[in-house]
Amino acid sequence: MVDLDKIISLCKRRGFIFQGSEQYGGLQGTWDYGPLGVELKNNVKKAWWRYNVYERDDMEGLDSSILLNRLVLKYSGHEATFSDPMVDCRKCKKRFRADQVDPNEKCSEGGTHDLTEPRPFNLMFKTTYGPVADENNIAYLRPETAQGIFINFKNVLDSTNRKLPFGIAQIGKSFRNEITPKNFIFRVREFEQMEIEYFVMPGEDEKCHQEWVEARKNWYIRYGIKPENIRLYNQKKEELAHYAKATVDIHYRFFPDRPEEDKQFDEVEGVANRTDFDLSCHTKGGKLVLADGREFPNTDATNKLTYFDPKTNQHLLPYVIEPSCGVDRATLAFMMDAYCEEEVKEGDTRVVLKLHPALAPIKVAVLPLKKNNEDIKATAHKIKKILLGSGFRTVYDDTAGIGKLYRRQDEVGTPFCVTVDFQTLEDQTVTVRDRDTMAQERVAIDDLKDYVAKRIGHND
Ligand code: GLY
Repeated sequence: MVDLDKIISLCKRRGFIFQGSEQYGGLQGTWDYGPLGVELKNNVKKAWWRYNVYERDDMEGLDSSILLNRLVLKYSGHEATFSDPMVDCRKCKKRFRADQVDPNEKCSEGGTHDLTEPRPFNLMFKTTYGPVADENNIAYLRPETAQGIFINFKNVLDSTNRKLPFGIAQIGKSFRNEITPKNFIFRVREFEQMEIEYFVMPGEDEKCHQEWVEARKNWYIRYGIKPENIRLYNQKKEELAHYAKATVDIHYRFFPDRPEEDKQFDEVEGVANRTDFDLSCHTKGGKLVLADGREFPNTDATNKLTYFDPKTNQHLLPYVIEPSCGVDRATLAFMMDAYCEEEVKEGDTRVVLKLHPALAPIKVAVLPLKKNNEDIKATAHKIKKILLGSGFRTVYDDTAGIGKLYRRQDEVGTPFCVTVDFQTLEDQTVTVRDRDTMAQERVAIDDLKDYVAKRIGHND
């Protein structure tokens, strides 16, 4: 299986992902998605939305703001608890996450590090709003999209008349001031999440939790991840976030080069049972109760976040199941799983990204077999226009011999190469080359649009 270094090199070379602020030496923990990366990432998000919103009948969408009133993060518990333990080296002054530092690591000042006791480091990015930057104008960049959903629970409920169970889905950026961002887009400071808060009757939460774990695992498999590269991990009690009663993480084999198999896997998604923790914190007159016993009665909220149950004629606080997926990590997982190096014939290896066609950044490459034949070129351009008009990301390339053109497309995962040749001019058919099998079949130009749609599985 491919390791991260090869993926990083492919990403830079072919324009998937670049270091953030690279022009000025970079900004640690930030990454910019290039022309192919933005397509891949958008397709991952579309596939998620399709599966979790459009193919179900119990979901609504939301796009809430990134900047949050400080009170949201006060009553959510993030101000008090959203921290990682950090340690400093007294000699080289470097800072580490206490649970990740290797005490035997060599210090640049000689010997090993001389570490301080762990101290909590709050991971939220604080900013101020308006012209006066003082304590009264503090806001936070959201550390999870989830809070935007909880505080809008009543708005969505009232405007849609949904009955339990139902969910709210949201995709968007979140920010965490990680102490040590690392491993490319795996641990970053600015990232994107795809989150669902699924509201259920208390008592139905545990069954629903299991159903979501299965559904989410199946999504990765449907879009191409090999089952052997996915594992489920039940978080231990001491690992649970402050809001969770139980969490099952979906792990992907991000680090295949680590010798111990268990260490090869890490989280791409968490599916948590958040109980009624969040709605209790944010509801008018509610209360945040932390594990250490501290209590914060909510004296600031403006609305009750309750649900009226028509069966019992009672107002109640629903329980919440939360599948929370990292877009960047999922994108990386799909890339890693799709990457292959194949010996085509002796001494001739091709790199191919066997991405699910729905995720591929470019769907079709139209390639003229002879670049000095004007009729062939004109027909190729005409075909490209037809496919673009049908909504398929399509490119034209005549800047090399056909073998090289195929390899270029294989490396970025283009599932179909359409070749225009002399026969095309006679019978209006083209060859379509399949990226994975390299088999070719002849298809009429008039049928191409339907052919591509069918192979992708849908036409967007
Ligand atoms: N909403 C869960 C998380 O961001 O980890």
